Amino acid sequence: MADLDDIRDGQEYGVGVAQKTDGFFLKGSNNLDWGMKDRLSRIFNPATGRTVMLAFDHGFIMGPTSGVERIDLSIMPLIEHADCLMCARGVLRALVPPTSRKPVCLRSDAGTSILTELNHNVVIDIQDAVKLNASAIAVMVSVGDAATEAETVANLYQAVDAGQAYGIPVMGVTAVGKDMARDARYFGLASRLCAENGANIVKTYYTEGFEKVVACCPVPIVIAGGKKLPELEALELAYRAIQSGAAGVDMGRNVFQSEKPAAMIQAVGAVVHQGLKPAEAFQMYNDLK
Ligand code: R5P
Repeated sequence: MADLDDIRDGQEYGVGVAQKTDGFFLKGSNNLDWGMKDRLSRIFNPATGRTVMLAFDHGFIMGPTSGVERIDLSIMPLIEHADCLMCARGVLRALVPPTSRKPVCLRSDAGTSILTELNHNVVIDIQDAVKLNASAIAVMVSVGDAATEAETVANLYQAVDAGQAYGIPVMGVTAVGKDMARDARYFGLASRLCAENGANIVKTYYTEGFEKVVACCPVPIVIAGGKKLPELEALELAYRAIQSGAAGVDMGRNVFQSEKPAAMIQAVGAVVHQGLKPAEAFQMYNDLK
């Protein structure tokens, strides 16, 4: 029952004090709705504007490849060091503790595997992403692949429509195929295409001239790590990407295939969030267990 006999007049109106109206810290995201911004703020650290996503969705096309044979044993000890987890829904439900309190960028397209033709995919129902409390959904786009370009762009478009309806950001994942170039021109085109079609985040690959790829993409870019490199080289890759304007990494194999995965993800984190130089981060990697 409301107390109707003790309604006190307000006193503190702050008349003359302008209400603070902040912009949003992420590139291209200021005009998004509250739920979108809330989710993006879970993925990207508002203090640095950057993220370390831990990618372990590889099994959904590759099966139990090196480092993800037993996600409970190899990946779960790493998640405390990640800002965001990127995985497919089966692994999320089966193995990731809901008590981890980590945002999830849900791998949301599925279809063909490495045994056939990649990227003939469909997108999962957005309601499942909602049920899983996904902070973003990730969809592959194979720009330049005649067989799958149109269907994967349509997948992105459909994911963006669904994401808009529920306030869930979409990450466009640029594919690399055997016939696709891997230069700044290609990644610039592919990243821009994702953003123009409504992706809120783009995942692509570092390349020479990456600052141009970042400059002409109106939303934040994170880089995939790609094939396993020696640790110092992987840290150099992360450093160059960040220096070129990337908003973080979405790294898998260079973390979980490392000799010391926990040390590696922490060293990558120091490059991304603290701007450590590669040699300093490598020292950190060597010093950690
Ligand atoms: C890309 O689509 C894959 O699903 C991975 O999530 C991505 O490539 C990042 O992993 P890695 O750093 O191993 O390339």
